[in-house]
Amino acid sequence: MADPILKSVTIRPARLSDSTTLRQMHEQSLRVLAADCYTEAEIDAFLAHIGTMDDFLLHEGTYYVVVHGDAIVASGGWSRKMPNYAVVSGGDRPPVTLGVPKIRSMFVHPMFARRGLATLLARRAETEVVAAGYDEIELTATLSGVPFYAALGYQNVRLYAAHCPGDIVVRGQVMHKRLSVTDIGDDSLPDSASHADAL
Ligand SMILES: CC(C)(COP(=O)(O)OP(=O)(O)OC[C@H]1O[C@@H](n2cnc3c(N)ncnc32)[C@H](O)[C@@H]1OP(=O)(O)O)[C@@H](O)C(=O)NCCC(=O)NCCS
Repeated sequence: MADPILKSVTIRPARLSDSTTLRQMHEQSLRVLAADCYTEAEIDAFLAHIGTMDDFLLHEGTYYVVVHGDAIVASGGWSRKMPNYAVVSGGDRPPVTLGVPKIRSMFVHPMFARRGLATLLARRAETEVVAAGYDEIELTATLSGVPFYAALGYQNVRLYAAHCPGDIVVRGQVMHKRLSVTDIGDDSLPDSASHADAL
């Protein structure tokens, strides 16, 4: 049975003005929900040298926030553009268009984990990707995200290693999913998604 919270959340495109709130929520999410997969030093390095999001995402209209009351409790979306993390690139590279769209920056507030919010966002992204004419999607998952994406049918492609200063290596997993028009659509979206769209 769907978690009742799915009836009380709304989903909307992220705005540039959400940037600071989002990064704070992303950090809380990583520090709690990724603590079994990464050391504190690795999480510190991730936040300082990789970053959880690049602001270009907030201009694309395909990155969403889940709102409960006044609080942003989850975020995630998709993009055709290569991630362009400001901390790594200086933020001024022109974004490169990808052949296969990517799921991007999926984070859930620790108090709202395992209630279906990331599934809501991933289904939204998959539906939009199919509607945009693609039949596949990929992502680079944190190790803490791998069981979630596996549950949604994503396959492991290769391991990924980001080398950060101080000889710290932050590992991840590139994952891929073949999408089909027949198994993506309104029926796969929880009621709350259409409820939220109406608001
Ligand atoms: C990974 C993450 C986004 C999942 O969000 P979520 O809203 O809790 O996920 P859902 O409730 O939609 O989970 C759907 C299914 O995925 C699987 N799943 C999710 N989190 C899992 C975990 N920690 N361990 C094992 N399986 C998990 C389960 O099968 C779950 O279904 P169930 O709860 O009925 O068993 C969240 O844990 C998170 O933000 N983690 C920290 C940041 C991070 O690593 N983000 C991924 C970036 S790529």
